[in-house]
Amino acid sequence: MTGDPARAAFRAMAESDLDAVYANEIDAYPYPWTRQNFVDCLRERKDCRVVIAADVVVGHGVLAVAVGEAHILNVCVAPRLQGYGFGRVLLTHLLERAAHLGAELVFLEVRPSNAPALALYDAAGFNEIGRRRGYYPAALGREDALVLALDLRVADLFAASARPPGAASVTPDRC
Ligand SMILES: CC(C)(COP(=O)(O)OP(=O)(O)OC[C@H]1O[C@@H](n2cnc3c(N)ncnc32)[C@H](O)[C@@H]1OP(=O)(O)O)[C@@H](O)C(=O)NCCC(=O)NCCS
Repeated sequence: MTGDPARAAFRAMAESDLDAVYANEIDAYPYPWTRQNFVDCLRERKDCRVVIAADVVVGHGVLAVAVGEAHILNVCVAPRLQGYGFGRVLLTHLLERAAHLGAELVFLEVRPSNAPALALYDAAGFNEIGRRRGYYPAALGREDALVLALDLRVADLFAASARPPGAASVTPDRC
């Protein structure tokens, strides 16, 4: 175990983080971003963030924010640390960044088969607002994307499942 999510730190992703970020990305996703996708996001000044625990990059997130809307393009926790609460603190951080950068609405796409991510987004208060047919590559052809949205003006993040205090580009448009 590398650190405690309650003590995780967040900062802007730098080019020097890309080895660690890309290693986590290819471990975590069956269809990962390329390293160049991250380079492009940094150059396009998307809001690219890393999660640090015990001095190690254990996760990353990428946001695009414009005219009052944020799109979460990537949310990733290193597989060896999934299930310990890092995803929840990372998503909370991304939503706080979105609000800080002026967004009122937050959107993302997710595979219907991605049960952990769907449960995380549901707990944060996201609602399904649409479906993009055949959006993702999949083992048997293509998979739809669910489009989820959260209104930050009325969001009560993770209220339904809060843990007790101290408990443990042409960028692909998916998170
Ligand atoms: C989705 C992801 C970011 C969650 O990160 P995580 O650190 O494992 O999540 P947490 O431990 O913080 O769990 C937060 C919530 O997510 C949900 N969750 C996490 N793992 C789950 C699992 N295996 N099954 C069902 N729900 C799960 C639960 O709602 C959980 O809340 P709870 O602990 O109160 O039940 C992580 O699984 C990941 O990086 N997956 C690969 C990349 C990916 O698919 N990203 C999302 C793309 S849309």
